[in-house]
Amino acid sequence: MSQTGSNKDVSEEHLPSARATEHDGTVEAAGNPFADPGLPPHEHRVQDIDERAAKRSERTVALLFTVSMLATVAFIASYVIFPIDKIIYVFPVGHVSALNFSLGLTLGVALFCIGAGAVHWARTLMSDVEVADERHPIEAEPEVKAKVMADFRQGAAESAIGRRKLIRNTMFGALAMVPLSGVVLLRDLGPLPEDKLRHTLWEKGKLLVNQNTNEPLRPEDVVVGSLTFAKPEGLEDDAHDFQSEIAKAALMIVRIQPEDIKDKRELDWSHEGIVAFSKICTHVGCPVSLYEQQTHHVLCPCHQSTFDLTDGARVIFGPAGHALPQLRIGVNKDGYLEALGDFTEPVGPSFWERG
Ligand code: FES
Repeated sequence: MSQTGSNKDVSEEHLPSARATEHDGTVEAAGNPFADPGLPPHEHRVQDIDERAAKRSERTVALLFTVSMLATVAFIASYVIFPIDKIIYVFPVGHVSALNFSLGLTLGVALFCIGAGAVHWARTLMSDVEVADERHPIEAEPEVKAKVMADFRQGAAESAIGRRKLIRNTMFGALAMVPLSGVVLLRDLGPLPEDKLRHTLWEKGKLLVNQNTNEPLRPEDVVVGSLTFAKPEGLEDDAHDFQSEIAKAALMIVRIQPEDIKDKRELDWSHEGIVAFSKICTHVGCPVSLYEQQTHHVLCPCHQSTFDLTDGARVIFGPAGHALPQLRIGVNKDGYLEALGDFTEPVGPSFWERG
């Protein structure tokens, strides 16, 4: 049977009663299955008629907010007391970090008690009289606005926030203390870097060591057309701080005919055309590693920033913000390449240059 078109396919008993009439915009209920049934009669709660029950509810809510405050204090205490590597056994979870367990437990209790207190307050003490409101146009008339404000004031009065000072004060206390948990955790962001990012392991007299062979480099080891990666003497591959130090100190070394070097400072800081630049891209810090022998351009594989090593490693293409820092080098009395100081500017992404 088709459902499209008209009512004629719908049986009579499923249609609204022809006897339903509209009066003052309200459909009268007589025989009308779609009529508004209205609100059920309001039933008073025990707290509405028994002040002792209301007091009990008030104390319960206050207790929950107080427990929340204590849990926040316990959170902060746990953070201070438990060492990060302490493991405890908790049934049925098993072995867990004491710090993580206590932080999670106390923060969970603090938040739960605020929520439970608010719910209990709303269910037992705030007004539960159901109110039906007619839909109205979006632009509110002045009288409507006045009514809203009056309703708001009435709601505030009925919530008893002014009268029930115990609840109000403990709630404000709990809400004010919970954010302290987040403030304490800021400590985990660690100490400020201070000027550590501005310095590397390079210093005057430190030898340039081939990163592949771990041998100190001599000028004759660096031939035109080759790209050599170097690290500072004394930085061992298995050192605990190897990654953090090499991330700042990594060097790439190339030899260019001195007459091909356009930048005067670059020439002054080189040794017989051997130049040493930071290997860390000034865009977001990838290792620059693709060398084009004829043009002496190096390319960062991450976002294709290209640097001209004959011209102070300035950026000739790509998103990098500034040239690769150059390390001033020379040769010591034993014939090895050595640094003549640290980099004179921060290596890596341009962000640090602004710090
Ligand atoms: S990190 Fe080198 S171009 Fe983006």
